[in-house]
Amino acid sequence: MATNTSPVPQWKELITQTTVAHRTKEEGSVLYYVLSTVNLGPSIRPQARYVVHRGFVNEQRSKTTESGVEPAQADYGMNTCLLTTTDIRSPKAQQILKQQQQEGEAHVEIAWWMEKAQLQFRLACTAHLLPHADNEHYMGFDGSKLVPPPASLSSKRPTSFDWAFERSRIFEKMSLGLLASFARPTPGSEHPNGNEIDAEGAGKDHEDGLNDKANPWPMELPKPGDAETKADQDALALSDKNFALVVLAPYKVDVLDLVRSKRSVFELQGGRSGGNEHWTAKRVVP
Ligand SMILES: Cc1cc2nc3c(=O)[nH]c(=O)nc-3n(C[C@H](O)[C@H](O)[C@H](O)COP(=O)(O)O)c2cc1C
Repeated sequence: MATNTSPVPQWKELITQTTVAHRTKEEGSVLYYVLSTVNLGPSIRPQARYVVHRGFVNEQRSKTTESGVEPAQADYGMNTCLLTTTDIRSPKAQQILKQQQQEGEAHVEIAWWMEKAQLQFRLACTAHLLPHADNEHYMGFDGSKLVPPPASLSSKRPTSFDWAFERSRIFEKMSLGLLASFARPTPGSEHPNGNEIDAEGAGKDHEDGLNDKANPWPMELPKPGDAETKADQDALALSDKNFALVVLAPYKVDVLDLVRSKRSVFELQGGRSGGNEHWTAKRVVP
């Protein structure tokens, strides 16, 4: 949503338009991008993997607005911070936390190819993790720097942006399979039946996939609120405990438009104080 204090940069409009338009039309993969983190030790290495775009902060789908999106918390607009999700125990989360600890902030990069639109986005971002309130890293989340702008200049000062609501709003949208995935042992840790099942089978065929030996944990959990048994309730509580919202705050965005042979670099000027954002745009040689 555009406000006087927060003009929407063109790169964000392109992402919103393309993800809203193509998501349901035979390009489901438009919601996947590559997220690179820095693995600091023992020697510095980049590490990349796909994650799912969960929209921008405070953005939810709308059938009534022209843009196809609207704010989830009505006192606030939307900003340019992207949301994805992960397990707080995962290597990517641990890499972000370690970089924050050692360097004050964590820097990551997104590479995103949208085939139908023939657009590549490269976003340099700081990364911010919002885990469960009981997690030791919860206090490290500096939400005040990431809040979206108030919904309009004239509105009364809104109540503070509710990050706990934002986290649970996204948690509740997780598929049943993803809810279950957060209740497993630590991602990337040794498989409990690893010696008995064929490790080489990964990717070759899917035959050894869906049995109790290969997957000795629930493959799905009920949605929060639907859990009836104690076992499901406990597993969901564990899932919530491990679930982390990842807020990616871009400060430099490189957009390559292959159709028009056009490349532009957008840069955030002076941070995001009070939800205000000012972006410059520069044409560069494609
Ligand atoms: C299409 C696709 C989407 C994915 N989305 C996510 C995601 O949103 N969050 C996540 O933590 N992992 C996601 N994954 C799994 C990661 O790519 C990766 O395999 C896993 O999280 C391990 O990452 P790490 O060891 O670097 O932490 C996705 C994988 C694929 C293939």
